[in-house]
Amino acid sequence: MTSVVALDTRSAPSTSRASATIHIALLGCGNVGSAFAALVRDGSQNPLRITHALVRDCLRPRPTLHPAAERVVTGAALFTTPPDVLVELLGGIEPARTLVLEALHRGIPVVTANKSLLAAHGAELRAAATRSSTPLLYEAAVVAGVPFLSTFARRPHAAEVTSLAGIANGTSNYILTRARDARCGIDKPLADAQRLGYAEPDPSSDIDGIDAAQKLVVLLQHFAHANIRTDAVETTGIRAIDCADIDHAAELGGTLKPVIFADWTGNLQAFSGPAFVPLRHQLATVDGAENAIILNGRRGRLVFRGPGAGPEVTAATVLDDVLEAMTTPRPVAFPRLERVEPTTPETGWFVTLAGSRLPGGADIADLLSSYGIYLQRTSASGRERFAAMTWPASRARVETALRAIEAAAGATVQHGAARHSCVAKHFRALEV
Ligand code: HSE
Repeated sequence: MTSVVALDTRSAPSTSRASATIHIALLGCGNVGSAFAALVRDGSQNPLRITHALVRDCLRPRPTLHPAAERVVTGAALFTTPPDVLVELLGGIEPARTLVLEALHRGIPVVTANKSLLAAHGAELRAAATRSSTPLLYEAAVVAGVPFLSTFARRPHAAEVTSLAGIANGTSNYILTRARDARCGIDKPLADAQRLGYAEPDPSSDIDGIDAAQKLVVLLQHFAHANIRTDAVETTGIRAIDCADIDHAAELGGTLKPVIFADWTGNLQAFSGPAFVPLRHQLATVDGAENAIILNGRRGRLVFRGPGAGPEVTAATVLDDVLEAMTTPRPVAFPRLERVEPTTPETGWFVTLAGSRLPGGADIADLLSSYGIYLQRTSASGRERFAAMTWPASRARVETALRAIEAAAGATVQHGAARHSCVAKHFRALEV
């Protein structure tokens, strides 16, 4: 494919939004940045040109970056000849925050896929964009391959939603899907997710639920106009899940999925973590790296589903945002965010016990009920495994009850030493 984009030396900065060529400063040339540069290079229709690329190492080969694009290692060089749009794909907080704020302050539209930055500083960035009436687009930050945030930004009545549930981390969903289908642990699927470019540079952000929690915070800024700290969201990861947990979920008519959930009908309640999803739920069939978001409002339920991770998918959405940023009507005004402290909801729980000599199912049910945890149904149990679905309860209550079970069922004394051999796990359960 040939490029029609003129990549010879620029003579002057573009000041007109209608100018034929859109000059881009690209921050970050990792997996997504390289894929974006390739799209720009190969685009036969688009009038785009990367003039500057902020990279960590100027000497490293960047095969997708046109040789005429100037590589810089400090942000200041980006603004000597102001670009038409700043594309921020660095990830992390600094220097991304400083450079994005600088661009917005100068009235340079910003496109970012950086959920960490948006989650931590969304209120500040939105305020800066509003002050200078400058587009700030972040469609690729959440469910990268499904363009829905920009749509709702322009359609405030359709965006009147009061709760959401979804799968927003492709890596965790890919791992749990592979672990279920191949009956394996998480190590091999995680390595594959890294190879495919789904995982974050530090994949613990994916498998510990933090990436999904950050995306939930961004969604809550967008739909609930709420300013929430990511570390205030109940967040759990998928590390502790084993094949037996997945099998028990299947026996009880469901599957384990990395879920985000929030409801702000009253006080805002939220969580991010693996949850039991009944097979009849719309999220149950969202497999592999696919993502989905279900938005509930008084006018009904909206479902968005599609690819959520991967360099090409993300780069394509970034490219669309760049083109949209150039045509976004001014003035740009984001609603003010209100600082909110989320609480955790009461939900049903999927609990599993593993041990060497567990009590019988009836005794377990009795003990749990003495702590206010009541079972809806149990899976076939033996002396080594037990699994059940509870009626809704608070996290604190279910954790207290399971600690009591562990203490009662797990402590044995061998050669004078106590040996604890009962492990209890709990996962939230979604309702259909
Ligand atoms: N690591 C992220 C995921 C990339 O797996 O969903 C897309 O945000």
